[in-house]
Amino acid sequence: MKGIILAGGAGTRLHPLTLVASKQLMPVYDKPMIYYPLSTLMLMGIKEVLIISTPEDTPKFEKLLGDGTQIGMKFSYKVQDKPNGIAQAFLIGEEFIDNEPVTLILGDNLFYGHGYLDFLKGKLDDLKGALVFGYPVKDPERYGVVEFDEHGKVTSIEEKPKHPKTKYAVPGLYVYDRNVVEITKSMQPSARGELEITDVNIAYLNRDELHVQLLSRGVAWLDTGTHKSLLEAGMFIETLEARQGLKVGCIEEIAFTQGFITKNEFENLIISYPKNDYTDYLVSILESN
Ligand code: G1P
Repeated sequence: MKGIILAGGAGTRLHPLTLVASKQLMPVYDKPMIYYPLSTLMLMGIKEVLIISTPEDTPKFEKLLGDGTQIGMKFSYKVQDKPNGIAQAFLIGEEFIDNEPVTLILGDNLFYGHGYLDFLKGKLDDLKGALVFGYPVKDPERYGVVEFDEHGKVTSIEEKPKHPKTKYAVPGLYVYDRNVVEITKSMQPSARGELEITDVNIAYLNRDELHVQLLSRGVAWLDTGTHKSLLEAGMFIETLEARQGLKVGCIEEIAFTQGFITKNEFENLIISYPKNDYTDYLVSILESN
């Protein structure tokens, strides 16, 4: 299973914050935003990740994350010239995907919850079709909305419907089998000129291969789309971290605990970091193991 993080867009809702820096590089308390979706992929056991961003911002992500070897990962980068839709990621990433299953996560989607993806362990590569998630929200009209029957079978999925059929939004985390590239190639841009991710999901639904997994209320799916929600996401992370003394979305810690790097490599990485609270935290993780 490969992973793609889509970190494009002009971030206009966050101007002037995003005038010179990408939205997905904004701080969410103590880390750049992209660390959180990246850690979601890492917790799914995905080690090969393609990061797609704008022509201006792609070099910044590359500077931040490098080739990934320092955390036992393999990162590559591609540019999306224009915001032509989320599903375009599969066309831009065709070579990277190389006929394998792929998970796509949006660079501004933050998830938190104990073991919320554990059910996926070991099952990802055998997935037939597509898997999306459902999360109850107060304002489903802002999202893709999924409807399903009592057996959990998807009956419809709609993009930002005026009259949502359910309160279940589809978060920006999607798991696809190897057919996703061919499916995307056969699609037409929507009325707003974009290749819609919801149209990919509809194509899977039409093949009777769209699965939905509801995320329990114990899982937090955070919004970062406005100044207020960005601040709230940061405060949420700060509150959790201060209370538990454990970090959320700490990619070095996850690399170590997932066994992507050895204890020795973890130690060397820490030595290369400047002295601050973040590094002290990594030292405490090293010492407690
Ligand atoms: C996109 C998708 C939408 C999904 C949402 C999740 O919307 O089009 O289906 O529910 O991401 O964050 P956007 O945030 O681009 O408006």
